[in-house]
Amino acid sequence: LTVKADKPTATIQPTMWGIFFEDINLGADGGIYAELVKNRSFEFNAPMMGWKEQKEGEAFGSTLVENRLEKGATNPRYIHVTANSDKGKYGLINEGFRGMGIKQGETYDFSVWTRKTDASSLTLHIELINTKGEVIGKADLTPTDKDWKKQSVSLTATATEPKAKLAVWFVGTGNLDLDMISLFPKNTWKQRPNGLRADLVQLLADMKPGFLRFPGGCIVEGRELSTRYQWKKTVGEVQSREMVINRWNTEFKHRPTPDYFQTFGLGFYEYFLLAEDIGAEPLPILNCGMACQFNSAEVVPMSEIDPFIQDALDLIEFANGSTDTKWGKLRADMGHPKPFNLKLLGVGNEQWGPQYLERLPLFTKAIKEKYPTIKLVNSSGTDPNGERFDYLNKNLRSMNVDIIDEHYYRAPDWFLQNAHRYDNYDRNGPKIFAGEYAAQSVATVSPDNKNNWKCALAEAAFMTGLERNADVVHMASYAPLFAHAEGWQWTPDLIWFDNLRSYGTPNYYVQKLYSVHKGTQVVPLVQKNEAVAGQNDLYASSVLDKNTQELVVKIVNTSDKSQTTNVVIESAKKVGKTGKLWILKSENLESVNSFEDPTLVSPAEQSVTLKGKQISLTLAPNSFSVVRVKLS
Ligand code: AHR
Repeated sequence: LTVKADKPTATIQPTMWGIFFEDINLGADGGIYAELVKNRSFEFNAPMMGWKEQKEGEAFGSTLVENRLEKGATNPRYIHVTANSDKGKYGLINEGFRGMGIKQGETYDFSVWTRKTDASSLTLHIELINTKGEVIGKADLTPTDKDWKKQSVSLTATATEPKAKLAVWFVGTGNLDLDMISLFPKNTWKQRPNGLRADLVQLLADMKPGFLRFPGGCIVEGRELSTRYQWKKTVGEVQSREMVINRWNTEFKHRPTPDYFQTFGLGFYEYFLLAEDIGAEPLPILNCGMACQFNSAEVVPMSEIDPFIQDALDLIEFANGSTDTKWGKLRADMGHPKPFNLKLLGVGNEQWGPQYLERLPLFTKAIKEKYPTIKLVNSSGTDPNGERFDYLNKNLRSMNVDIIDEHYYRAPDWFLQNAHRYDNYDRNGPKIFAGEYAAQSVATVSPDNKNNWKCALAEAAFMTGLERNADVVHMASYAPLFAHAEGWQWTPDLIWFDNLRSYGTPNYYVQKLYSVHKGTQVVPLVQKNEAVAGQNDLYASSVLDKNTQELVVKIVNTSDKSQTTNVVIESAKKVGKTGKLWILKSENLESVNSFEDPTLVSPAEQSVTLKGKQISLTLAPNSFSVVRVKLS
């Protein structure tokens, strides 16, 4: 193999490798959003879902759900509790999202909005309870006000428990209104109140992603338009955000999630902040006036599309506008006077048909007129080479859109065969965002799909083709990102977690190796002057990193035999005598990572010694190797 290190062919966009985030598989509520209380504001369709009354002894107690809907409240329900605990105990138990993950020695912040409705002196005794019924943390709180008021108290856990519950006991005699009963670990990512689970964000930060796409996925569209994602309902005071049923609230037999709602505690402000924290460009995707076409296929009439377009304009103002503007001021009030510097915006997710092509130009015109530098991402859907996909691609190309978002959930072989996919793409047309992809070990949407090494290896091979064509492919992201082991609807997924633990799949390590070793320019890596994309079961690409003056070579060996190869570096520059090598491999293509063995398939680092300008490598069977050497 030869690397023409002095002949860069393309600039690699800083956005090249990124993250696709969607609240699917309990990715947000019950996942990265660190709230431990399920249905904290009693707004799930069954108001007491997640809560149980508990009486001990001869205590009296009752809980009534009250609703201030008529006042136009966005969080209309609260509970009215009447209790007399003289002869026992009365309380409410919250089960959490598949339990609550509690860690010994850690502090938890309990908070609640209360309103005293009479002169009585009902106080709250808070307990964390393990599966044996033992108390592993406690605190007391005395409601003080006749008007709604938020009060907080902290408790420290005395034991670790993956399936804890929260008990709120009512002590004394009297009445009390309560809302937004909440419990967060203090130790969230960057210790932020209303924050994110630190271990999960760390896994994202470790990838050094170029962008963060949010909030999905199909949840952008909603099953019906009424449950579409509306960013304006996800910003401002947390207690005033209006929740909706999650589009992934399913009745699938093997993975029912009737308790899946979007509380929007993690809303657009928090997504922008997350992107900033992990050094990623924010890429919000907005509804284009069409609901999920896999469900209701509802569209808003053309005559009523304006508010949807206004939402897009207002979002740009929210992200970038001065603090004198309405939405820029809200961003500042929420704690971020500096703009988020939004450069990319998506309109529509997996939409199809003439309705999309009819609506899209209206968004494009309005956005480009007001914000000409914003690059727009438009979707051609999820059926590469299918009729629908081709129709959209053709039309989006003729509309000369900025970036086309292509999705592929296909068999591992498809990924190998498509390592050439972009080699002959039109260089003058729209750029490509490989916005959702994942090799499917069984079949798309099969619950038996595994994040096995075979799939990850095929993705690694395919990604050499994305990298080689970085002049046309500007962005790529695996999907979906997260899955709770006890609350998923879709597999495979990049990162699995439960209430206390998390691990990256082999696919995660492939993504991370590409992203961390992204480089700034593509240089040709050839065999007999041809791109290496399947000859002798090898797939390869190479980049320069001008920031560190290094050459990076990526080689995938999909053969079940070891192969020896020489990489000859053609360069006028001096080449380092040694380099670093990361190898990701497994003898068994079925290998998966797991909670028990989270790094079974993960990169091993070693050094390589060069012979002059040659790197001699013995590529293990079914392996992915990344080599970095200095050029000076
Ligand atoms: O990633 C899961 C789903 O797959 C996304 O929500 C959707 O865009 C695609 O069909």
